[in-house]
Amino acid sequence: MNLKAKFLFAVLAGTLALGNALAQQPIIIKFSHVVAEDTPKGKGALKFKELAESRTKGRVKVEVYPNSQLFKDGEEMQMLQLGNVQMLAPSVSKFGPLGVRAFEVFDLPYIFDNAKDLHNVTQGKIGKQLFDKLDSKGIIGLAYWDNGFKQMSSNKPLRTPADFRGQKLRIQSSKVLDGQMRALGATPQIMAFSEVYQAMQTGVVDGGDNTPSNIYTQKMHEVQKYMTISDHGVVEYAVIVNKGFWDGLPADIRATLDGAMKEATNFTNEIAQKQNDEAMEKMKASGKIQFITLTADEKKAWKKAVLKVHRDSEATIGKELIQQIYKETGFDPEAL
Ligand code: LMR
Repeated sequence: MNLKAKFLFAVLAGTLALGNALAQQPIIIKFSHVVAEDTPKGKGALKFKELAESRTKGRVKVEVYPNSQLFKDGEEMQMLQLGNVQMLAPSVSKFGPLGVRAFEVFDLPYIFDNAKDLHNVTQGKIGKQLFDKLDSKGIIGLAYWDNGFKQMSSNKPLRTPADFRGQKLRIQSSKVLDGQMRALGATPQIMAFSEVYQAMQTGVVDGGDNTPSNIYTQKMHEVQKYMTISDHGVVEYAVIVNKGFWDGLPADIRATLDGAMKEATNFTNEIAQKQNDEAMEKMKASGKIQFITLTADEKKAWKKAVLKVHRDSEATIGKELIQQIYKETGFDPEAL
């Protein structure tokens, strides 16, 4: 082979090698979330990674970024739309800034009594109907993941609505949660999840509401004196993907990932309650926070105080959607 031929051969071989390397590049899914790994969502994300990578035989690589490492809430939704991250699992209380307030129906205080009622909504017609609202935002909803019921925490014992007066309480970016805190007599303050611990520690806020697994893994119980077992609402997640990315996947890969997501969803929803129960036990054992159990009458007073939020939210959420959920869960405002 003369020199020129050798050169051409080398270029060709190089191009082929590069082409091969590119063809074997895995598809990367960046999955960003704001909570710790030892939570229902943290574990669910890792389960999805494990299943997606093994079932696609390495053709898909899922990079999970927990603890707001990549993006804080408030930023992550826009980053998903821009394609800087492919998958998220925000709490459904965080779709408002995107212009989709209907998801805040999940925030209506006391609308869910138990996980079964919640699943009837998320796994049925209403859950799908809500996901359809994301399509025009360039987002696809894949699944609903549970965390659990929220408890109210503060540096002051909160037993009656009167106790909320003067309290500044952190909320997620939801008009319904804003209404909930105001109806109880507190001043709500929207804040990213990653900033809550410090805000509680320094007294920027007096307290907030969250699930035991979130409170424990963020060590909020170390900077809060009291937790009222209120079970007044839920933290529920929507696992969402960038639509352009998802629709552009090879069909066989998408089908495999859909299967992996179904299984990761069952896994997450099965462990959620246990994760929260364990977090509660650990907080009790720590002795760092005092627990308040409400009497039946006290609970009734909380319910009565927040009922107005259901009515006031009709304009933002839609009366029909609220009624649909009442039907599904058996919630009866007249019975309070
Ligand atoms: C919060 O901001 O309190 C929660 O939504 C965090 C989460 O993702 O569970």
